[in-house]
Amino acid sequence: MNQILILDFGSQYTQLIARRLRQLKVYCEILPCSTKLEEITSKELKGIILSGGPSSIYAKNSPKVDPKIFELGLPILGICYGMQLISHDRGGKVIKSKKREYGFSILKTSKKSPLFNGVPEKIKVWMSHGDEVKKMPKGFKKSANTSDIKIAGFENEKEKLYALQFHPEVHHTDYGLKILKNFAHKICLYKDQWSPASFLNETIADIKKDAKNSSVICGLSGGVDSSVASVIVSKAIGKKLYCIFVDTGLLRTGDKERMRAVFNKKYKFNLKIVDASKLFLSKLKGVSSPERKRKIIGKTFIEVFDKESKKIKNAGFLLQGTLYPDIIESVSVKGPSAVIKSHHNVGGLPKKMKLKLIEPLKFLFKDEVRELGRSMKMPEELLMQHPFPGPGLAIRIIGDITQERINILKKADKIMRDEIKKFGWYDKIWQAFCVLLPVKSVGVMGDERSYENTIAVRCVESVDGMTADWSKLPYELMQKISSRIVSEVKGINRIVYDITSKPPSTIEWE
Ligand code: XMP
Repeated sequence: MNQILILDFGSQYTQLIARRLRQLKVYCEILPCSTKLEEITSKELKGIILSGGPSSIYAKNSPKVDPKIFELGLPILGICYGMQLISHDRGGKVIKSKKREYGFSILKTSKKSPLFNGVPEKIKVWMSHGDEVKKMPKGFKKSANTSDIKIAGFENEKEKLYALQFHPEVHHTDYGLKILKNFAHKICLYKDQWSPASFLNETIADIKKDAKNSSVICGLSGGVDSSVASVIVSKAIGKKLYCIFVDTGLLRTGDKERMRAVFNKKYKFNLKIVDASKLFLSKLKGVSSPERKRKIIGKTFIEVFDKESKKIKNAGFLLQGTLYPDIIESVSVKGPSAVIKSHHNVGGLPKKMKLKLIEPLKFLFKDEVRELGRSMKMPEELLMQHPFPGPGLAIRIIGDITQERINILKKADKIMRDEIKKFGWYDKIWQAFCVLLPVKSVGVMGDERSYENTIAVRCVESVDGMTADWSKLPYELMQKISSRIVSEVKGINRIVYDITSKPPSTIEWE
């Protein structure tokens, strides 16, 4: 597939470059800057982008790229660190800026540069750098400057090398998308109109070929990723796809019923719903530490899944709904980030089960998966659902987990979700849920004193779950949620609303 390759030097914005190109219907992939030339040239490239990065070009062990990429005759755009790298490679001079620049600058653009075609002469751009190019390499022309930086962009049209000190991929840069579009269309001559569905036929054909003689097992959670992935695979191999849904007893009201309605009735999948709720509850008895809950649930899930999948004959593959950001994270030049919470997923399964992986979504971002689901006419309600964590309600019941406390939380959570949907707020929110607190307080109900539990309501807005802000729900909606829960759910007499962002909090309470 024709593409523009992004070589990653560790910038926090590298994924954004990819998101913007995909938005422009340009297919792109991200590889670490250390990727071998043979792998780079094995792709059908129309151009290369060198990302920014935190290093200084003169620092010991600063990341480099195989210099032979400059001899491939492909258009190359260097952004920030990428610009300094081009300068360095071509004999220009990079110096430490007098002060680290972080924030907005006014850029003066050159009309002659194809990158700035259709872009006004003065635009606001986002800068984030400590070094700058002091002297351009021979044969290069300046394409932009700011009042602080004489060379904020340079290029060599003959050699198809282009460089920018600022970040066109960042939302705050005016005409950033237009600049990237100019690079893709006018310089790289990328002509295709890529869409997530472009993958579909090819992916289906590949799965058909790979799984010709064996069955595929899928741990279907009913979330967006595993649902879309399973529909793709069922298109390829039909009844040779075996789906297992583990009912941990920690699901929300309606989750299991929806699984049946969509995957048994509508899609007629081979779907086995395993009721393991008693097992999970017994293993979690008396456990209140969040990390222990997660570990127990992860381990028990794998045991149940493993036992069930052994019953499937001729299994050769395990289907996983891995997305592109997971892949990029694991190959990035950045070091591993600190583990805040151990996430429960089925990552340990393939090794244990000796199955090969099928990952049909591994080059897609979340919103592209939704678009792909839409192109296959999957139910909108399924595609637009909020994320739900693997450990389920267990990490939304603070303290001990009992059947009674699960039931209380399920009722409160259902009321809250129903009201949010009624008010038309469901799609404005990234995630909305209730948390049952081990806090009792005094209330008055009718003429009687009550001494009952507290529910915290958590609604957040987010783009990727990495950072989040609390949703400013209308008071009327908050009031409705509060009064309905208190009057309809026995055992609750107080509702509080969580008004912390992430960071410093996390989205889930445990
Ligand atoms: P936190 O609480 O870390 O959550 O801010 C970020 C996002 O991840 C979801 N989450 C999980 N998803 N398994 C999952 O599949 C997990 O163990 C898990 N823990 C948190 C959370 O709901 C939010 O969307």
